Amino acid sequence: MANTDDGRHTLPGGADYLIRHATLRQLQLLEAIVRLGSFTRAAEELFLTQPTVSMQIKKLSETLGTPLFRHVGRSVEPTDAGREVYAACREILGTLTDLEVKLSDLKGLKRGRLRLGVVTTAKYVAPEILGAFCRQYPGIEVSLGVTNREHILERLMAHDDDLYVAGQPRESSEQIESIPFAPNPLVVVARVDHPLATERDVPVERLAEENLILREPGSGIRDAVLRRFKEAGIEPRVRMQLGSNEAIKHAIVGGLGISVLSLHSLRLESSGGGLVLLDVQGFPIMRRWHLVHWRGRELSLVARTFLEFAIGYEPEIQVRLGNARAAFEQVRAGLRQREAKA
Ligand code: PGA
Repeated sequence: MANTDDGRHTLPGGADYLIRHATLRQLQLLEAIVRLGSFTRAAEELFLTQPTVSMQIKKLSETLGTPLFRHVGRSVEPTDAGREVYAACREILGTLTDLEVKLSDLKGLKRGRLRLGVVTTAKYVAPEILGAFCRQYPGIEVSLGVTNREHILERLMAHDDDLYVAGQPRESSEQIESIPFAPNPLVVVARVDHPLATERDVPVERLAEENLILREPGSGIRDAVLRRFKEAGIEPRVRMQLGSNEAIKHAIVGGLGISVLSLHSLRLESSGGGLVLLDVQGFPIMRRWHLVHWRGRELSLVARTFLEFAIGYEPEIQVRLGNARAAFEQVRAGLRQREAKA
């Protein structure tokens, strides 16, 4: 770096200096740290160690001659310079992503990348669809991000993935295309020895007497469940909140209460896992997933092809759901028989 007479650093040759001294990897790191608000999370996302990340940011900051982050308590925050660099990084990386899309479109479907972001209920089918897709297009590299509704919407806003599988959009937007996809019924789940397990048409008000296990704030299932309770004018007795469908299943088996989950998340338990579906009025809550993407940003050929492939896969998903429903009916029938004999 050149020094002026008064000791200030200058960047000779404009971008030439940055091109020689900064790397795209460093810019990618800075972008991830600002977006995720943490060195650790950025390191995780980019499969690097934290010392590597710190070292690269130190180098970038030396190159630019200014600190890029400051510590605030236990978290980090970009300095004004860091914020400027971040804005530039978003543009540079966005341009590179568009370039990648255009180049891979030129190569057709032999090579390419698909980044899919899905809500947690869709993680029970997305890997299967991706598996079938990759068998057909083996040169395509796929990544699957799974998180709750709120975080998927954040990822959508930040253009983090090519395509999303999310729940019902709350409001329609001109900029966002949202194509209805497979059904996602939310069912009331209890332990197999629950007193309501063999009852039919249980009034929804009866659920007010049950301990309810709810998903975390930000979850689409949670919103749907709370809305249904509100419509029925009943106050849920929330026993605990858990950030994972799997943890909730374990909590039900552990006797902590009942819950409402996606039938997709219960497919493995439908033929014996200590769980039953309760037949409650107003349930299942019939929801649909949607395939979501930005209208203004052209979908890559790979993403377009996947979208059509996923829509074509829907009948398969319906069959699996039907099988799960039938298997749970069998569980109920078995319980009723046992009850009748006793
Ligand atoms: P989530 O899933 O509860 O993980 O946000 C939402 C959905 O299925 O709509």
